[in-house]
Amino acid sequence: MDVSKIKTHDVLIVGAGLAGLSAALEISEMDPAVNVAVISKVHPVRSHSGAAQGGINAALRFDDSWKGHLYDTVKGSWFLADQNAVRILCSEAKDVIARLDKYGALFNRNEDGTIAQRAFGGQSRKRTCFIADKTGHNLLYTLYEQAMKRNITIYWEYFVTSMLIEDGAFKGITAIDLMTGELNYIQGKAVILATGGAGRIYGQSSNALINTGDGIALAFRAGIAVKDMEFFQIHPTGLLNGILITEGARGEGGYLINKDGERFMKNYAPKFMELAPRDFVARSIHLEIQAGRGIENEYVHLDLRHLGKEKIESRLPQIREIAMNFAGVDPVVEPIPIRPTVHYTMGGIDVNNRTQTEITGVFAAGECSCVSVHGANRLGGNSLLEAVVFGFISGRETLKFIQNRGLNTISKSLLTTEEQRLSALLSNSNGEKAAPLREEMENAMITSFGIFRNENLMQSGLIKLLELQKRYANVVVEDKGKIFNLDLVRVLELGYMLDLARIIAMGALARKESRGAHFREDYTKMDNANFLKHTLVRKDESGALEISYKAVNIEDIKPLEEIRY
Ligand code: FUM
Repeated sequence: MDVSKIKTHDVLIVGAGLAGLSAALEISEMDPAVNVAVISKVHPVRSHSGAAQGGINAALRFDDSWKGHLYDTVKGSWFLADQNAVRILCSEAKDVIARLDKYGALFNRNEDGTIAQRAFGGQSRKRTCFIADKTGHNLLYTLYEQAMKRNITIYWEYFVTSMLIEDGAFKGITAIDLMTGELNYIQGKAVILATGGAGRIYGQSSNALINTGDGIALAFRAGIAVKDMEFFQIHPTGLLNGILITEGARGEGGYLINKDGERFMKNYAPKFMELAPRDFVARSIHLEIQAGRGIENEYVHLDLRHLGKEKIESRLPQIREIAMNFAGVDPVVEPIPIRPTVHYTMGGIDVNNRTQTEITGVFAAGECSCVSVHGANRLGGNSLLEAVVFGFISGRETLKFIQNRGLNTISKSLLTTEEQRLSALLSNSNGEKAAPLREEMENAMITSFGIFRNENLMQSGLIKLLELQKRYANVVVEDKGKIFNLDLVRVLELGYMLDLARIIAMGALARKESRGAHFREDYTKMDNANFLKHTLVRKDESGALEISYKAVNIEDIKPLEEIRY
């Protein structure tokens, strides 16, 4: 497959969700002359930010402060979040909400016209601004509408195959235009990776099929360290097929009930009950089911009936629709069957507070990055906030970076290597299909790196992943055509996911403690003395994986030794 088109821009942004669009808007508002391109494998409004339901956090109320938000976030993170990064997240939240409001986001309002806020898990105040239960959807459309008014080029349905780095500096990317099958070389002075999470590494997931960790793997392959990948958030409430049922449902007052009709959270988190942080609630549901108190040994109930039809229709209309369409129950009159579902990648590309990676000209923001504001467990409502706050920051920082810089030239050999890699993949006809490999990876991940982990399970998971990586080297793309070759896309995505799965496994095996989403049956306690540190995994010069650690930034909040809610 040869490069048949060359395109040139000042700044490339890979990903068109909330982080990518925020970055693009910031650049073009600050300097409309800058030539910005957004490259996305789907149309922007199909980005996964649109699936976020419950809301976006900011301390707005008279009885609240951003310092309270900071404390809750740091405690919720099991003290693994960097406090200087969380300070930025929380102190900028109020202005960010005002900016989204000015752009036209349709936030729910109180009677007095102020922005309404609902309760979310692990928060000491009602702090989550919302747009019914379609917050991400509305914000995504709002930002896209703004982007359309500006000088921003959007390449959608372009699949990025590599990030090209030479002499330690970013040169450009290669991307397949899916409509034509042509390989493009897109040059830029800098890139912002904003490609979202990798939840599809696990089969049972609330994530869209597009969430295959592409940006994280691109950075990793280019030699950038990825951080804290062993922390994968499992959301407490998904339908049995994985579809998200927002935490907003519990925020509005929904109960979790076992088969005996008991609100079992009183046994696990007596103070916060259903609104304990997600890792607590997900583990509690899992334990109830394991103890035989689940319904049909498979799920528990989320009961909204006492909220009444009017509240359900006004605050949770999409949840009602989803429950009716995908579970066949109307929450107005019946409880919803739910169980935990894989939801969010808390680790990601290692970046500093200015969204810079270790490679000159490469920035990252949103779920694909790890700045780190979520640590071992993210509070609901902080992901949209992170995407927008650090999306804007990445725009500002990239703009500073490109001042007085020209385009880098690239050695032809770099492009040739990528052309040859793709051609070899397409020409292989005698090997394994990707789909079964993918299924085996998904099963290994959920079995070995799910809610509860232990050495034996994880070792056998890692052995399986290594075997899959070997078999992947001989994978076959059956469709040899050019136009919309989704077979090729799925094969390339699988390669990205297998890289990341192995990194998750390495980090999880090495972390011999329990913290947030990483819960080990063989090391059940948090161990600050040995593990209050970030995991970094990178490729060394020979291509082998190397693990190292980095200190957590601690400002005013002293880490506790035990966490209760
Ligand atoms: O439950 C939810 O609505 C999800 C929100 C989030 O992940 O922040």
